[in-house]
Amino acid sequence: MRKRSLARRILVSIAVVVVACVLGALAVFLGAFENSVVDTSLEPLVTDDGHASPARPMSDDEIAALAPRGRYLAAAADCAACHTGPGGAPWAGGRAFEMPFGTLYATNISPDPTYGIGGWSRADFHRALRDGVGKGGRHLYPAMPYVSYRNLTAADVDALYAFLMTQAPMAVPNRADSFPFPYVRRFMTFWNLINLPRTVAADDRSKAPAWNRGRYLVDALGHCGECHTPRDFTMGMIRDRYLEGALIEGVDAPDITPAGLARLGFSEEGLARFLPAGLGPQGVVSFSMYDVVHHSTRYLTGDDVAAMAAYLVDGALPVATAPVPIAADVAASGRQHYVELCSACHGLAGEGIPHVAPAMATNADLRLPDARNLLVAVVDGLPARAFPGRERMQAMPAFADLLADGEIADLANYLRATWGGTAPDVTADAVSEIRRAERP
Ligand code: HEC
Ligand code: HEC
Ligand code: HEC
Repeated sequence: MRKRSLARRILVSIAVVVVACVLGALAVFLGAFENSVVDTSLEPLVTDDGHASPARPMSDDEIAALAPRGRYLAAAADCAACHTGPGGAPWAGGRAFEMPFGTLYATNISPDPTYGIGGWSRADFHRALRDGVGKGGRHLYPAMPYVSYRNLTAADVDALYAFLMTQAPMAVPNRADSFPFPYVRRFMTFWNLINLPRTVAADDRSKAPAWNRGRYLVDALGHCGECHTPRDFTMGMIRDRYLEGALIEGVDAPDITPAGLARLGFSEEGLARFLPAGLGPQGVVSFSMYDVVHHSTRYLTGDDVAAMAAYLVDGALPVATAPVPIAADVAASGRQHYVELCSACHGLAGEGIPHVAPAMATNADLRLPDARNLLVAVVDGLPARAFPGRERMQAMPAFADLLADGEIADLANYLRATWGGTAPDVTADAVSEIRRAERP
């Protein structure tokens, strides 16, 4: 008898826990724990930064007055990199994202009433950028970097809205995602609960105004952390490893913390020159970083790039590199390949040729802890490209068919040890893995 009642009590307790869990999950699912940083309730009250609540529509005069500043902010926030496809109509969307469940496309954000955001209110737009919730409560996927844009000021979001509303409407339909079931979106409430900070970062009063401006440009507008911060198994950015580097589309977006930048040879002034130019003694920007310079950092004012550099470098001094010991046979083989195949463009002493090919002796690629980006450049080559200020670089040939895995490993080890001051730990297997890996 006592045994039965004990069993019954245990069963009841389990049932209570299960029901509580189900109700909790349901509450999260239905958005009970969602937290908005957008104040849309206080019609037409004015927010902290002197701007009217987004609940009030913007007048045509206000739109015209704010649009020029919005154009600058759209460049600083790199909206075009995703929302204007290669060769596509401006703001009509297009960039594809390969996600675990399928492919997602950036949408049309031109003011077209049918296909774009022409019918979006100011409040809808604020919520999309800062809460990740689009018109009609439709949750966005974090390929749209709303986790970073959450820190945008209401005034800047208004200017972005005004700018987009002055652009030509494009009647280009959105491409549907290829996700196997359409309800994944609804589960973003769980993702947001774990990964979306509840509050917005406040200014650090112990730091100079330029540092705080730099932090805003890097963390909020430039969303640099979206590529440079490692992600956990939920695909959320790991906060306490902010900017420590991550693998993105088969290459390394390097560590750009003060220590990381110092290792790559950047001083504060050096980084302030490099970000708008896309090239310098540290080499050229490649892969998705080329787009960041091309659509975004090249348009920033001198004060703004200086502020970004002040925040990112934060007083760290560039580290000088010293050659690392390397086996004599590896050095001989690596040096021979360098002299025969590379030095005509990159210089015998690795000094590079201005307007033709970047320097090797001071190149950031050789100073990275991992040789991946160096190997990808050698295996795939790089296209001829234009850089800001009428600067050009030739194409770099692919060496995949000219050198065997072991030869590329020797070459990489020789360059890393001699000029990069990094461990000559590249193996032929690592090269063969790079050859096989898929890259966009
Ligand atoms: C890294 C790529 C990326 C950048 C940068 C980016 N977006 Fe997006 N954006 C996306 C993707 C992808 C979607 C679609 C998300 C989805 O369908 O869940 C999206 C969706 C949106 C939406 C919702 C549109 C709709 O129809 O639901 C708006 C509004 C928007 N973005 C505005 C902006 C603005 C303004 C900027 C610059 C401040 C910007 N985006 C920068 C990738 C990006
Ligand atoms: C879309 C992803 C992406 C974003 C966003 C991004 N980066 Fe990068 N970044 C990369 C990749 C990939 C590399 C490696 C490029 C290479 O090897 O040339 C890189 C390299 C760099 C480097 C080292 C120089 C070099 O070319 O190797 C610096 C400095 C840098 N990024 C700064 C920034 C800053 C500052 C921002 C924000 C304004 C930013 N990045 C945003 C992907 C990104
Ligand atoms: C025909 C001239 C040429 C030859 C030969 C050549 N390169 Fe390059 N290399 C370039 C150019 C030009 C670039 C920059 C390409 C760009 O910006 O699109 C480059 C870029 C690179 C980069 C990326 C550097 C960075 O700053 O991100 C590496 C690494 C590199 N080369 C290594 C080598 C090695 C190793 C060899 C020999 C196996 C070699 N190159 C042979 C012209 C050459």
